[in-house]
Amino acid sequence: MIIAANFKTNLTRKQTASYLDALEDILKEDDNSQEVLVFPAISSIDAHEGRVALGAQNAYATLNGAFTGETGSEQLEEFGIKTILIGHSERRHILGETQEELVKKFNFYKKLGYKIVYCVGEPLDIREDGSEPMMEYISAQYEGIDTEYENLIVAYEPVWAIGTGLTPTLRDIELLHLTLKQKSTAPLLYGGSVKLDNIEEVLNIQNVDGVLVGGASLVVEDFSKMCKIAQNIDDKE
Ligand code: PGA
Repeated sequence: MIIAANFKTNLTRKQTASYLDALEDILKEDDNSQEVLVFPAISSIDAHEGRVALGAQNAYATLNGAFTGETGSEQLEEFGIKTILIGHSERRHILGETQEELVKKFNFYKKLGYKIVYCVGEPLDIREDGSEPMMEYISAQYEGIDTEYENLIVAYEPVWAIGTGLTPTLRDIELLHLTLKQKSTAPLLYGGSVKLDNIEEVLNIQNVDGVLVGGASLVVEDFSKMCKIAQNIDDKE
């Protein structure tokens, strides 16, 4: 399974370094073989040795150049970063990234062979319009995206479930994942208020290949317990 942590704009460089040290130790102790990804704040990214892969929460579709305030692939690769999150709802809805911009970003990082965690998900008003408009909305987020890209991971994250403590029912997640698997056979993560007390039931849903965790990933003890739960489920299968 794939267990990913999105720190968003949290944790300093120092805090991130000690978090990663602790996480590596616990994963080793637990003999954990799950794929673990961590997306720190861009200024907290550093060279990291270990089995946890670090990724960028965002970057610009450029190697380098005159793009004030942005980060290019050259700056990521200095730290061995080859994983990127694209299309997170906070970038779509707060930072105003359009599908067109996301496609450009996707294609740029695909060409460089990056592992891309591509996020899709609907806001509450769209969900309330019913399942047809909701699926149309989500389908539009697949437009221009190479769904067969070998290093693609998709994350389904309903916008209204992110950071709110609200989650869809397990049955809703199951149905959505079943539908989204028809669009792409890439691993499909669920994200949105995943925490210690619901991760097990979420990971047990068919077609859920892992989770993308925000707020609940910030404490290393909790996140490593989530990795352990994933391992236990895997061991049982
Ligand atoms: P959350 O965030 O776990 O805090 O809801 C998930 C995400 O934004 O990826």
